[in-house]
Amino acid sequence: MEELIKKLRELEAKIEAGGGLDKIQKQHEQGKLTARERINLLVDPGSFVEIDKFVKHRGTMFGLDKEDLPADGVVTGIGKINSRPVAIFSQDFTVKGGSLGEMHAKKIMKIMDLAMELGIPLIGINDSGGARIQEGVDSLFGYGGIFYRNTLASGLIPQITLIAGPCAGGAVYSPAITDFVVMVDKTAKMFITGPEVIKAVTGEEISQEELGGAYVHNAKSGNAHFLAKDEYEAAFIIKKLLSYIPQNNLEEPEYIPGNYSYEVPETINNIVPVEPTKAYNVKDVINLIVDEGTFFEVHEHFARNIVVGFARIAGRSVGIIANQPCVLAGSLDIDSSDKAARFIRFLDCFNIPIITFVDTPGYLPGVQQEHGGIIRHGAKLLYAYSEATVPKITVILRKAYGGAYIAMGSKHLGADFVAAWPTAEIAVMGPEGAANIIFRREIESAPNPEEKRKELVAKYREAFANPYVAASRGYIDAVIEPAKTREWLIKTLDICSTKVSSLPKKKHGNIPL
Ligand code: HXC
Repeated sequence: MEELIKKLRELEAKIEAGGGLDKIQKQHEQGKLTARERINLLVDPGSFVEIDKFVKHRGTMFGLDKEDLPADGVVTGIGKINSRPVAIFSQDFTVKGGSLGEMHAKKIMKIMDLAMELGIPLIGINDSGGARIQEGVDSLFGYGGIFYRNTLASGLIPQITLIAGPCAGGAVYSPAITDFVVMVDKTAKMFITGPEVIKAVTGEEISQEELGGAYVHNAKSGNAHFLAKDEYEAAFIIKKLLSYIPQNNLEEPEYIPGNYSYEVPETINNIVPVEPTKAYNVKDVINLIVDEGTFFEVHEHFARNIVVGFARIAGRSVGIIANQPCVLAGSLDIDSSDKAARFIRFLDCFNIPIITFVDTPGYLPGVQQEHGGIIRHGAKLLYAYSEATVPKITVILRKAYGGAYIAMGSKHLGADFVAAWPTAEIAVMGPEGAANIIFRREIESAPNPEEKRKELVAKYREAFANPYVAASRGYIDAVIEPAKTREWLIKTLDICSTKVSSLPKKKHGNIPL
């Protein structure tokens, strides 16, 4: 027995050493941790149960038969984060560049199947040179199997990706299907075709960082939701994210009991300017209303004209969607519609109530927007709000015009409760545009057209651009003082806690993509 235990321990130590000291040192020099160090950073100490440590590849081509690849380049298992179990796979770049062959992929598929069966979140840590070239089509089988499982798991368990090194070619599609992608600044890279191929095909010259670095995917493409300055911050982000999310689609998010006050600092009255064209930062409003310090922004750098994120209101986890008047005046465009719609669908999958703050002049005008498909992209937002059956509560802060008013969580798309601040303007369109159209002849024939125009704009504003017309029809449920917003949200969320709502039975809808 002693001999056998000694042999087992030696074997385990050899596997745990991954690609060896040189490779680990190179990894560290690049500011990267190893696959196992990353897992240790994430999970509660001592909680990780490794699976398939002894798996070996079956490749025979191009010298692979002579190579021993510890754990086949990926560490998989189940650990706990804040005492809640999560399934993890972590690619080991020190072992053949973390390349994905048949058995490497089968380990990932096994842990994905387990995560679905157990109803626990999946965290994928990517650091890989892509398909293991020596294993040919077996690598492709592997990627296909992972994409398939990512899709089956979507909406069943939360899936979070950490990109902590290269992730190129078709490999990017696993992260893309997952719910949230965290990228580490400077070390993470994602692209379908790299700089060399692009140069050969289109003649464009670009560095890896400019093409697919963490900032680019956070700010431009929107493929990533979080930008971490290093791997320590990435681990913090993942843990924080999980704290707002339930383990699976059948569970409620964690509730934190406490003695919560309705109070909101009086300064809330001075944030939103009464003049509809003046800008302000909607995050100042959000931060005053939600439980202090709980607002956790998602997709912070992308489509900044809409703000989305998690927060807690009297201990309940909620998702926030808010127009951002200090970026593009808070207008809706292609990217902001995509951003908000996908977040709403996540919230709905995982039983997290949707809180919407509205202040938007409408859809962003422009040929680029029209030809880029704002019709189809904007439709996603309406669709996502309409199909969501979780509690939907909306507060109209100021401008809510036309189609954008309907799109932003209106009563007409099934909101459970809608309130408006006294500053709200709920109308078919802004007073300027409206007066120019309906009073055109009157303005043109006036002795002083400009003066007449101003007078008629004011008349229109008084008649329509206020919350009381909508309130008189019951399209909004209440007009509330800004300082009463927290109380109103706490009470309506509480009322909604027994909400049961379902959609007509069908296979699935066909959201415009
Ligand atoms: C096999 C690979 C590999 C791969 C890296 N390695 N990528 N082995 N298949 N895809 C091995 C290297 O041979 C080397 O082995 C070790 O990993 C470390 O790689 P280095 O090149 O020394 O590391 P570095 O200089 O840091 O460069 C990292 C890299 C580079 C930029 C990722 O390795 C690279 O360009 N790799 C190839 C990327 C690629 O074209 N992949 C295939 C894409 S096709 P030794 O033994 O020397 O330590 C694809 C299709 C998937 O992925 C489709 C799915 C739908």
